Amino acid sequence: MTKAAPWSFYGRHAELQQLQDILARRRWFFLQISGRRRIGKTTLIQQALQGAGITRTLYIQIPDSDPAGVVASCNGYLETFGLDERISSLGELARLIGTLVEAGYVVALDEFQYFHRRQLFDFCSLLQAEVDRLAARYADVPGGLIVLGSLHAEMTALLDNRDAPLFNRTTDTLELGHLDIRSLGNPVCSCR
Ligand SMILES: Nc1ncnc2c1ncn2[C@@H]1O[C@H](COP(=O)(O)OP(=O)(O)O)[C@@H](O)[C@H]1O
Ligand SMILES: [Mg+2]
Repeated sequence: MTKAAPWSFYGRHAELQQLQDILARRRWFFLQISGRRRIGKTTLIQQALQGAGITRTLYIQIPDSDPAGVVASCNGYLETFGLDERISSLGELARLIGTLVEAGYVVALDEFQYFHRRQLFDFCSLLQAEVDRLAARYADVPGGLIVLGSLHAEMTALLDNRDAPLFNRTTDTLELGHLDIRSLGNPVCSCR
């Protein structure tokens, strides 16, 4: 499915620029993108990763499922993105993310808010261990991690709550609002 074909993408110039700047650093970043459902988070990240010409990318949409369902889904994305690795647990997922980021990959975890579910919450501590390892030598780590999520309360609980394993770990935040109609560049809109 070609979701964000170039001809169908409008606006978001400021957001794309911010993303390009982060990607251009070529050193460790942990970016949180949040905004309500259907606001354009997934479309934006797909556009940004294509536009940046970054070949080492892994995009995973986390399903609303149990650990086995998440593992199965991740293995499907690994195959889609041409990676030979396969995982059998959430711990292996966290470690693989760390390994890929160290090798220069940009890894995007979409619908990250599902990790707030009790049955998946262990992953947050597993990911914290990897994130802290990468952050400790951030200048030598050429890749980064992007987490995208819709439910504001759950994203906040995962990343901004003092007791959360991933508290205070993000390096950048992008809060998506509505498309600005003046920036659409659509002739139909610019005639007045
Ligand atoms: N910048 C954009 N230009 C054109 N269409 C967009 C843009 N952003 C989002 N859309 C469209 O809006 C819908 C919802 O976008 P999506 O990225 O799936 O939202 P989210 O991931 O935040 O739930 C999709 O059909 C998508 O194609
Ligand atoms: Mg989405």
